[in-house]
Amino acid sequence: MSRLHLFVFLCFGVVSCKHEVFSPEDYPMTISELCDSDTVYFAQDILPMLEAACGQSGCHDQASHEDDIIIDSYSNIVHGEENDLVIPGSPNGSELMEVINDNNPNDVMPPPPASPLSHDQIDLIALWIEQGALHNSCLSCDSTSFEFTTVIQPLIQNLCVTCHSGLEPDGELNLSTHSNIAGAVTYRDLMNHVSQAPGFDPMPPNGSGLSACQLFQLQEWINEGMPNN
Ligand code: HEC
Repeated sequence: MSRLHLFVFLCFGVVSCKHEVFSPEDYPMTISELCDSDTVYFAQDILPMLEAACGQSGCHDQASHEDDIIIDSYSNIVHGEENDLVIPGSPNGSELMEVINDNNPNDVMPPPPASPLSHDQIDLIALWIEQGALHNSCLSCDSTSFEFTTVIQPLIQNLCVTCHSGLEPDGELNLSTHSNIAGAVTYRDLMNHVSQAPGFDPMPPNGSGLSACQLFQLQEWINEGMPNN
Protein backbone atom coordinates (compact mmCIF):
# COMPACT_ATOMS: atom_id res chain seq x y z
CA MET A 1 0.00 0.00 0.00
CA SER A 2 1.47 3.39 -0.93
CA ARG A 3 1.61 6.13 1.65
CA LEU A 4 -1.19 7.98 -0.09
CA HIS A 5 -3.37 4.90 -0.18
CA LEU A 6 -2.70 4.29 3.48
CA PHE A 7 -3.63 7.86 4.29
CA VAL A 8 -6.85 7.66 2.33
CA PHE A 9 -7.63 4.34 3.93
CA LEU A 10 -7.04 5.59 7.45
CA CYS A 11 -9.13 8.68 6.89
CA PHE A 12 -12.05 7.21 5.07
CA GLY A 13 -11.72 3.46 4.79
CA VAL A 14 -12.46 2.65 8.40
CA VAL A 15 -15.37 5.04 8.65
CA SER A 16 -17.11 4.24 5.40
CA CYS A 17 -16.01 0.91 4.05
CA LYS A 18 -19.30 0.61 2.22
CA HIS A 19 -18.60 3.24 -0.38
CA GLU A 20 -15.01 2.66 -1.27
CA VAL A 21 -14.65 2.72 -4.99
CA PHE A 22 -11.82 0.72 -6.46
CA SER A 23 -10.33 1.23 -9.84
CA PRO A 24 -8.91 -1.66 -11.87
CA GLU A 25 -5.37 -0.43 -11.06
CA ASP A 26 -5.85 -1.23 -7.37
CA TYR A 27 -5.75 -4.97 -8.08
CA PRO A 28 -3.45 -5.47 -11.05
CA MET A 29 -3.71 -8.76 -12.83
CA THR A 30 -0.77 -11.17 -12.88
CA ILE A 31 -0.33 -12.70 -16.28
CA SER A 32 1.57 -15.95 -16.75
CA GLU A 33 3.14 -16.66 -20.10
CA LEU A 34 1.71 -20.15 -20.14
CA CYS A 35 -1.43 -21.67 -18.71
CA ASP A 36 -0.68 -24.17 -15.93
CA SER A 37 -3.26 -26.94 -15.81
CA ASP A 38 -3.26 -27.05 -12.00
CA THR A 39 -4.02 -23.36 -11.61
CA VAL A 40 -7.43 -21.76 -11.87
CA TYR A 41 -7.26 -18.46 -13.72
CA PHE A 42 -9.65 -15.65 -12.93
CA ALA A 43 -9.60 -14.17 -16.43
CA GLN A 44 -10.07 -17.41 -18.33
CA ASP A 45 -12.00 -19.66 -15.93
CA ILE A 46 -13.88 -17.59 -13.40
CA LEU A 47 -14.95 -14.23 -14.80
CA PRO A 48 -16.57 -15.53 -18.01
CA MET A 49 -18.44 -18.20 -16.04
CA LEU A 50 -19.68 -15.83 -13.32
CA GLU A 51 -20.61 -13.14 -15.80
CA ALA A 52 -22.67 -15.60 -17.82
CA ALA A 53 -24.38 -17.00 -14.72
CA CYS A 54 -24.86 -13.84 -12.63
CA GLY A 55 -23.95 -10.70 -14.51
CA GLN A 56 -26.89 -10.43 -16.90
CA SER A 57 -28.96 -7.29 -16.93
CA GLY A 58 -31.61 -7.36 -14.24
CA CYS A 59 -29.32 -9.37 -11.97
CA HIS A 60 -25.80 -8.37 -10.95
CA ASP A 61 -24.71 -6.06 -13.74
CA GLN A 62 -23.67 -2.42 -13.17
CA ALA A 63 -27.21 -1.14 -13.70
CA SER A 64 -29.18 -3.59 -11.56
CA HIS A 65 -26.62 -4.63 -8.91
CA GLU A 66 -29.10 -6.64 -6.81
CA ASP A 67 -28.00 -6.56 -3.15
CA ASP A 68 -25.14 -4.23 -4.16
CA ILE A 69 -23.36 -7.12 -5.81
CA ILE A 70 -21.84 -6.43 -9.20
CA ILE A 71 -20.36 -9.36 -11.05
CA ASP A 72 -18.33 -7.73 -13.77
CA SER A 73 -14.71 -7.41 -12.67
CA TYR A 74 -12.19 -8.66 -10.15
CA SER A 75 -12.47 -5.59 -7.96
CA ASN A 76 -16.26 -5.77 -7.78
CA ILE A 77 -16.33 -9.50 -7.15
CA VAL A 78 -13.52 -9.80 -4.60
CA HIS A 79 -13.47 -6.30 -3.12
CA GLY A 80 -17.02 -5.14 -3.73
CA GLU A 81 -19.57 -3.83 -1.27
CA GLU A 82 -20.49 -7.29 -0.02
CA ASN A 83 -17.14 -8.04 1.52
CA ASP A 84 -17.82 -11.66 2.48
CA LEU A 85 -18.67 -12.62 -1.08
CA VAL A 86 -15.20 -14.02 -1.70
CA ILE A 87 -12.73 -14.59 1.11
CA PRO A 88 -9.41 -15.50 -0.46
CA GLY A 89 -8.18 -18.87 0.79
CA SER A 90 -11.50 -19.76 2.40
CA PRO A 91 -14.17 -21.27 0.16
CA ASN A 92 -16.16 -22.23 3.27
CA GLY A 93 -16.27 -18.68 4.54
CA SER A 94 -17.21 -17.21 1.17
CA GLU A 95 -20.82 -16.20 0.66
CA LEU A 96 -20.44 -16.92 -3.04
CA MET A 97 -19.93 -20.64 -2.36
CA GLU A 98 -22.95 -20.67 -0.09
CA VAL A 99 -25.34 -19.15 -2.62
CA ILE A 100 -24.24 -21.24 -5.59
CA ASN A 101 -24.54 -24.42 -3.47
CA ASP A 102 -27.86 -23.58 -1.81
CA ASN A 103 -30.45 -26.35 -2.08
CA ASN A 104 -33.35 -24.01 -1.49
CA PRO A 105 -34.75 -22.83 -4.85
CA ASN A 106 -35.63 -19.49 -3.24
CA ASP A 107 -32.04 -18.79 -2.31
CA VAL A 108 -29.85 -20.51 -4.86
CA MET A 109 -27.90 -18.37 -7.34
CA PRO A 110 -28.52 -18.09 -10.19
CA PRO A 111 -32.24 -18.42 -9.31
CA PRO A 112 -34.62 -20.55 -11.40
CA PRO A 113 -35.50 -20.67 -14.24
CA ALA A 114 -31.72 -20.31 -14.82
CA SER A 115 -29.99 -23.61 -14.28
CA PRO A 116 -27.65 -23.82 -11.31
CA LEU A 117 -23.91 -24.03 -11.88
CA SER A 118 -22.65 -27.55 -12.52
CA HIS A 119 -20.59 -29.45 -9.95
CA ASP A 120 -17.49 -28.95 -12.09
CA GLN A 121 -18.06 -25.20 -12.23
CA ILE A 122 -18.66 -25.03 -8.48
CA ASP A 123 -15.50 -27.05 -7.81
CA LEU A 124 -13.51 -24.75 -10.05
CA ILE A 125 -14.70 -21.66 -8.17
CA ALA A 126 -13.90 -23.34 -4.83
CA LEU A 127 -10.42 -24.19 -6.05
CA TRP A 128 -9.85 -20.67 -7.31
CA ILE A 129 -10.82 -19.27 -3.88
CA GLU A 130 -8.67 -21.88 -2.15
CA GLN A 131 -5.71 -20.90 -4.35
CA GLY A 132 -6.09 -17.37 -3.00
CA ALA A 133 -8.79 -15.90 -5.28
CA LEU A 134 -6.05 -14.34 -7.36
CA HIS A 135 -6.47 -11.80 -10.11
CA ASN A 136 -4.59 -14.00 -12.50
CA SER A 137 -4.56 -14.75 -16.16
CA CYS A 138 -2.49 -16.79 -18.56
CA LEU A 139 -1.57 -16.53 -22.17
CA SER A 140 -2.02 -19.41 -24.50
CA CYS A 141 -2.10 -18.80 -28.17
CA ASP A 142 -3.79 -20.98 -30.76
CA SER A 143 -3.31 -19.43 -34.18
CA THR A 144 -6.32 -21.24 -35.61
CA SER A 145 -8.76 -19.62 -33.25
CA PHE A 146 -9.76 -15.97 -33.23
CA GLU A 147 -13.28 -15.61 -31.88
CA PHE A 148 -13.97 -12.32 -30.19
CA THR A 149 -15.22 -13.52 -26.80
CA THR A 150 -12.76 -16.36 -26.27
CA VAL A 151 -9.62 -14.95 -27.89
CA ILE A 152 -9.62 -11.30 -28.88
CA GLN A 153 -11.33 -9.79 -25.87
CA PRO A 154 -9.23 -11.73 -23.30
CA LEU A 155 -6.09 -10.73 -25.20
CA ILE A 156 -6.99 -7.03 -25.06
CA GLN A 157 -8.20 -7.45 -21.49
CA ASN A 158 -4.84 -8.95 -20.51
CA LEU A 159 -2.59 -6.54 -22.29
CA CYS A 160 -4.37 -3.25 -22.76
CA VAL A 161 -7.30 -2.63 -20.44
CA THR A 162 -5.31 -1.63 -17.34
CA CYS A 163 -4.41 1.57 -19.22
CA HIS A 164 -7.30 1.80 -21.66
CA SER A 165 -10.38 1.80 -19.41
CA GLY A 166 -12.05 3.87 -16.76
CA LEU A 167 -12.96 7.52 -16.76
CA GLU A 168 -9.64 8.82 -18.10
CA PRO A 169 -8.19 6.07 -20.26
CA ASP A 170 -4.69 6.56 -21.67
CA GLY A 171 -4.69 8.05 -25.15
CA GLU A 172 -8.38 8.86 -24.52
CA LEU A 173 -9.00 5.38 -25.80
CA ASN A 174 -11.22 2.87 -24.06
CA LEU A 175 -10.77 -0.76 -25.09
CA SER A 176 -13.21 -2.51 -22.81
CA THR A 177 -16.01 -3.43 -25.22
CA HIS A 178 -16.39 -4.94 -28.66
CA SER A 179 -17.41 -1.63 -30.21
CA ASN A 180 -14.51 0.22 -28.53
CA ILE A 181 -12.04 -2.30 -29.90
CA ALA A 182 -13.52 -2.39 -33.39
CA GLY A 183 -13.58 1.42 -33.37
CA ALA A 184 -9.90 1.53 -32.38
CA VAL A 185 -9.03 -0.75 -35.29
CA THR A 186 -10.97 1.41 -37.74
CA TYR A 187 -10.19 4.91 -36.49
CA ARG A 188 -7.16 4.75 -34.18
CA ASP A 189 -4.68 2.57 -36.10
CA LEU A 190 -4.74 -0.18 -33.49
CA MET A 191 -2.93 -2.69 -35.71
CA ASN A 192 -0.13 -0.26 -36.54
CA HIS A 193 0.39 0.39 -32.83
CA VAL A 194 0.41 -3.27 -31.79
CA SER A 195 2.57 -4.41 -34.69
CA GLN A 196 4.99 -1.58 -33.84
CA ALA A 197 4.88 -0.09 -37.32
CA PRO A 198 7.36 2.77 -37.83
CA GLY A 199 5.90 6.11 -36.78
CA PHE A 200 3.38 4.62 -34.32
CA ASP A 201 3.95 4.45 -30.55
CA PRO A 202 4.28 0.73 -29.79
CA MET A 203 1.44 -0.81 -27.79
CA PRO A 204 1.64 -2.03 -25.12
CA PRO A 205 4.29 0.67 -24.50
CA ASN A 206 6.63 -1.61 -22.55
CA GLY A 207 7.54 -5.27 -22.67
CA SER A 208 8.11 -7.29 -25.76
CA GLY A 209 4.81 -6.56 -27.44
CA LEU A 210 2.38 -9.07 -28.89
CA SER A 211 3.66 -12.41 -30.10
CA ALA A 212 3.49 -13.26 -33.79
CA CYS A 213 0.66 -15.66 -32.97
CA GLN A 214 -1.35 -12.95 -31.19
CA LEU A 215 -0.85 -10.50 -34.05
CA PHE A 216 -2.01 -13.19 -36.44
CA GLN A 217 -5.15 -13.81 -34.37
CA LEU A 218 -6.00 -10.11 -34.35
CA GLN A 219 -5.40 -9.79 -38.08
CA GLU A 220 -7.55 -12.83 -38.85
CA TRP A 221 -10.38 -11.46 -36.71
CA ILE A 222 -10.13 -8.12 -38.54
CA ASN A 223 -10.10 -9.90 -41.91
CA GLU A 224 -13.31 -11.68 -40.92
CA GLY A 225 -14.97 -8.29 -40.39
CA MET A 226 -14.42 -8.04 -36.60
CA PRO A 227 -17.46 -10.13 -35.60
CA ASN A 228 -18.75 -9.95 -32.03
CA ASN A 229 -18.78 -13.74 -31.81
C1 HEC B 1 0.96 1.01 -19.71
C2 HEC B 1 -0.21 1.62 -20.32
C3 HEC B 1 -0.66 1.16 -21.68
C4 HEC B 1 -0.90 -0.12 -22.10
C5 HEC B 1 -0.72 -1.43 -21.34
C6 HEC B 1 -1.41 -0.01 -23.46
N1 HEC B 1 -1.46 1.30 -23.82
FE1 HEC B 1 -2.16 2.02 -25.59
N2 HEC B 1 -1.68 3.92 -25.02
C7 HEC B 1 -1.12 4.27 -23.82
C8 HEC B 1 -0.86 5.70 -23.81
C9 HEC B 1 -0.24 6.48 -22.65
C10 HEC B 1 -1.28 6.20 -25.06
C11 HEC B 1 -1.26 7.64 -25.56
C12 HEC B 1 0.10 8.11 -25.92
C13 HEC B 1 0.68 7.36 -27.03
O1 HEC B 1 0.08 7.28 -28.13
O2 HEC B 1 1.79 6.83 -26.82
C14 HEC B 1 -1.78 5.04 -25.81
C15 HEC B 1 -2.27 5.11 -27.09
C16 HEC B 1 -2.81 4.04 -27.79
C17 HEC B 1 -3.37 4.12 -29.11
C18 HEC B 1 -3.43 5.34 -29.97
C19 HEC B 1 -4.62 6.18 -29.69
C20 HEC B 1 -4.63 7.38 -30.61
O3 HEC B 1 -5.39 7.38 -31.55
O4 HEC B 1 -3.83 8.27 -30.36
C21 HEC B 1 -3.80 2.87 -29.45
C22 HEC B 1 -4.51 2.42 -30.74
C23 HEC B 1 -3.51 2.01 -28.33
N3 HEC B 1 -2.90 2.75 -27.34
C24 HEC B 1 -3.79 0.67 -28.29
C25 HEC B 1 -3.35 -0.18 -27.30
C26 HEC B 1 -3.54 -1.60 -27.34
C27 HEC B 1 -4.29 -2.36 -28.43
C28 HEC B 1 -2.94 -2.10 -26.23
C29 HEC B 1 -2.81 -3.55 -25.84
C30 HEC B 1 -2.24 -4.45 -26.81
C31 HEC B 1 -2.42 -0.98 -25.46
N4 HEC B 1 -2.68 0.18 -26.15
C32 HEC B 1 -1.77 -1.10 -24.23
C33 HEC B 1 -0.88 3.43 -22.75
C34 HEC B 1 -1.00 2.05 -22.78
